[in-house]
Amino acid sequence: MPTTGTAIVTGGSRGIGRAICTELAERGADVVVADIDTDRIQGSVDAVEAAGQEALPIRTDISNFDSVRDCIDQTLARFGSVEMLVNNAGIAGPTAACEDVSPDEWDQTLNVNLRGGFYMCREVLPAMKEAGYGRIVNIASVTGKRPLVNRTPYATAKMGIIGFTRTLAAEVGRHDINVNAVCPGSVDGPRIQRVFEQQAEMDDRSPREVEQEVRDESARRELVDRETVANTVAYLCSEDSRQITGQDINVSAGKVMY
Ligand SMILES: NC(=O)c1ccc[n+]([C@@H]2O[C@H](COP(=O)([O-])OP(=O)(O)OC[C@H]3O[C@@H](n4cnc5c(N)ncnc54)[C@H](O)[C@@H]3O)[C@@H](O)[C@H]2O)c1
Repeated sequence: MPTTGTAIVTGGSRGIGRAICTELAERGADVVVADIDTDRIQGSVDAVEAAGQEALPIRTDISNFDSVRDCIDQTLARFGSVEMLVNNAGIAGPTAACEDVSPDEWDQTLNVNLRGGFYMCREVLPAMKEAGYGRIVNIASVTGKRPLVNRTPYATAKMGIIGFTRTLAAEVGRHDINVNAVCPGSVDGPRIQRVFEQQAEMDDRSPREVEQEVRDESARRELVDRETVANTVAYLCSEDSRQITGQDINVSAGKVMY
């Protein structure tokens, strides 16, 4: 199912973001790779170009309003329109009991994970409304739906994304702009291994035990592949998902079913 036009993918330098950039390019999109990390951005640019599409890397800090404005300005100057926005950039935040989370850690986690997506939507919506078309996908998490002990800032931000998604979808649906959230479970890769290590240290267990427990929580006893997340995002970015909006779709190997 082709997905044509220009897509901005935040946090596109690595991990799930890179998989999304690649998948969208393979389905026919030009991709703006927007990331605060420019060391690894070229790998995603190469992946988009290998699929025969144009890539534009832009150093963007989504928690900084001026940086977000600059990202959208550069995108419109180069491509003239933005059909798709994938708010994927995120940080894990602290792993700590609530009373040990510092106010700065709280602010930083919410500023990147929640405020950043708001800034991106705020700045991209005028162009989408003018064009009368848009597809926005916000990457939340199953942690936006069920508790994850010692991760209060992250869980708060991810649940906030779901509320933001529903209300924005209701606001902009009549402009043929769809807004959905994708809620991954534990996605295989270096990021989740770091989380396992932190959790293991807090619980005085081995990272392997934590990983096994996480696998056992899912119906399929699996971690999630980033490609499955990217495929779901690409579907929501396509014409075929026209009547799907305001949803929060789990890609969790059956860990969460609501
Ligand atoms: N990995 C998982 O198990 C998992 C599970 C559920 C949800 N998620 C969500 O999926 C998304 C991607 O996760 P990932 O595992 O690929 O993470 P990752 O850490 O591998 O990649 C995140 C990317 O976001 C970028 N980033 C961080 N702060 C930024 C900022 N202020 N501005 C712009 N870019 C910034 C990083 O540089 C990085 O390239 C995140 O929103 C995460 O919360 C991940």
